Amino acid sequence: MNATRPASMSSFWMPFTNNRDFKANPRLLVSAEGMYYKDVDGNSILDGAAGLWCVPCGHNQPRIVAAIREMVGQLDFAPTFQMGHPTAFDLAERLMTYTNNKFGHVFYTNSGSEAVDTALKMSLAYHRVRGEGSRTRLIGRERGYHGVGFGGISVGGIGPNRKHFGPLLPGIDHLPHTHNIDKNAYTRGEPEHGVNLADELERIVALHDASTIAAVIVEPVSGSTGVLVPPKGYLKRLRELCTKHGILLIFDEVITGFGRLTTPFAADYFGVEPDLMTTAKGITNGMVPMGAVFSKAFIHDAFMDAPAGIELFHGYTYSGHPLACAAALATLDVFEEQQVLAHAASMKQYWEDAVHSLKGLPHVIDIRTIGLIAGIELAPIAGKPGLRAFTAFKQAFADGVLIRTTGDIIALSPPLVLEKQHIDELFGKLAAVLKNLD
Ligand SMILES: Cc1ncc(COP(=O)(O)O)c(C=O)c1O
Repeated sequence: MNATRPASMSSFWMPFTNNRDFKANPRLLVSAEGMYYKDVDGNSILDGAAGLWCVPCGHNQPRIVAAIREMVGQLDFAPTFQMGHPTAFDLAERLMTYTNNKFGHVFYTNSGSEAVDTALKMSLAYHRVRGEGSRTRLIGRERGYHGVGFGGISVGGIGPNRKHFGPLLPGIDHLPHTHNIDKNAYTRGEPEHGVNLADELERIVALHDASTIAAVIVEPVSGSTGVLVPPKGYLKRLRELCTKHGILLIFDEVITGFGRLTTPFAADYFGVEPDLMTTAKGITNGMVPMGAVFSKAFIHDAFMDAPAGIELFHGYTYSGHPLACAAALATLDVFEEQQVLAHAASMKQYWEDAVHSLKGLPHVIDIRTIGLIAGIELAPIAGKPGLRAFTAFKQAFADGVLIRTTGDIIALSPPLVLEKQHIDELFGKLAAVLKNLD
């Protein structure tokens, strides 16, 4: 384990990174505990982003660390193709309980991107096994992020993530995004305006006919494009329309799953049930890569009616990896024993008030909050989109707080175990950064 500066940084081609800028001026993390990282110079960095939205229970959570250590000494790897290991089944049962038995089955992947592609493939295959093979069209949404697989970028709605990689999947359409600062600026929770945007699905159905559409996929709250909270009633309306037209509804809960909105999933928060739900990140508290697709029983059961043999020709070498399963079970233990959701709920008001106290600071043009998430939108520098927020990110890191930025939006999503003093520290430092920003 290297806790010093690497001799060379040239070989690692870093993901979603300005490699040249980073390597000229690196930010290197060497350890973590609770709410803080330590950088290579020994500075403490308060984690305002839960790593990458993925550490709800805080860093190096001892119970989860111990579970992983124990498992690696017992079962390093076991295939789950025509084989199994008990922990994978135990975890699946626990996950059913954690979702209040709203789903019947869970399929393991290693990441959010794989969970998304799995859910899209399940949707296509589900219609096919039921004899509705004409349903091949997939509907995403502008400003949606669904990872980086070809399925995910095809239904995703972020131009730069798509433009170099065509041709993407055929037969894709997109709903409009719901972001509207003119009408909904400075909202706490769901904004008032925009439920009618769900009706755009009717327009797409009229154009292509429902008999050609397999599924709609949306993030209940868009995270990666800057915390876009759905307008009041929007998700319910989408659910109604999907049901009406026999279209599967997929919620991508890779960010919102495992407590981000203070409920187990965003589906619980909004009281809307999807047919398939993709998750990752917090499922293992970020400690071992894992994703999962939750499926309603009727989808799974449609495959079980097929002639004997492998029902779904899909899976990953590391689906249900023993270390990931052990980490996920321990994460659920921590959620339960430490009442992580109740604690997050008890912090929500303080969090919300602290975020909205930034209103009026230079360049701030919108603030939006829901659960323990916040989006702070800055006015862009003319001709240099994203530069202002990225400068804030760098300065905040130098001042000892990790924030995340996307375009000119600061997105905050701390570990759910934070206390009031962490909120004070985070917003004290962030306010100072914003006050001094060009
Ligand atoms: C909503 C959503 N879906 C999918 C993904 C992709 O997950 P991964 O990076 O684990 O592939 C992300 C990642 O941030 C996400 O936010």
